[in-house]
Amino acid sequence: MYQIIDGKAISTQLKDELKERVSALKEQGKQPCLAVILVGEDPASTVYVGNKKKACEYIGIKSLSYELPESTTQEELLALIGKLNDDDSVNGILVQLPLPKHIDEDAVIQAISPKKDVDGFHPQSVGALCIGQPGFVSCTPAGIIELLKRSNIEIAGKECVVIGRSNIVGKPMSLLMLRENATVTICHSKTRDLKEVARRADILIVAIGKPKMITAEYVKEGAVVIDVGIHRLEGKKLCGDVDFDDVAPHTSAITPVPGGVGPMTIAMLMKNCVDAGE
Ligand code: GUN
Repeated sequence: MYQIIDGKAISTQLKDELKERVSALKEQGKQPCLAVILVGEDPASTVYVGNKKKACEYIGIKSLSYELPESTTQEELLALIGKLNDDDSVNGILVQLPLPKHIDEDAVIQAISPKKDVDGFHPQSVGALCIGQPGFVSCTPAGIIELLKRSNIEIAGKECVVIGRSNIVGKPMSLLMLRENATVTICHSKTRDLKEVARRADILIVAIGKPKMITAEYVKEGAVVIDVGIHRLEGKKLCGDVDFDDVAPHTSAITPVPGGVGPMTIAMLMKNCVDAGE
């Protein structure tokens, strides 16, 4: 029988711990503050930003909301970030991605002070992670480490295969698993014999963005499978990059979609905000 890794329960546990840390800060007259910037009206981004604000409210973090029109120029956005960088009452700055096409995402990410980079996307944060120095870590991969640890899944010495090499998930995920002393393989669209490589994994982490692509053929018997994907199928049902029903019986533990990795991303964002506040 396999274990279903309950991201919803684990994220609630984490958020409750953060609530206590925020109470302690408030007793010292301090309250962490997150500035959330959304440009345009992308429906998925609007939902994500709403969920982030709700999580702030639950934990007791103050959130400042900047909902800017699609027509906002890069200069205007950079000016707002500059103002928030200089505002000592703001601990974290989050610019929801993707941005409209006329805005250079890299320039925006680089404009955020690394001290307030609660998304962990700034090159300085990524560089610090790479060489083992302290800094903010991208929330989804950090949340996956937390899920594994709180589910008592050992990482050190394990074969870990990460499918996907994005800057937000695949690359930082690989670095974090390496930091936890796993032996790490990163796969991508040009990887030959993907099934064979994936079947080496004791811990298989999938972030490819293709609904139900990973079937039982990709999974070694007894592996731990972490599914980062989230897709809405026709009929509105959600699914991940992993074909859950096909794969789960062959695993020792697996994350569901929804209710696996997703809730942890926001919880880790909140953790980064509280860390910044402290
Ligand atoms: N868009 C999709 N995921 C994320 C995220 O983790 N942070 C930000 N800022 N934008 C996103």
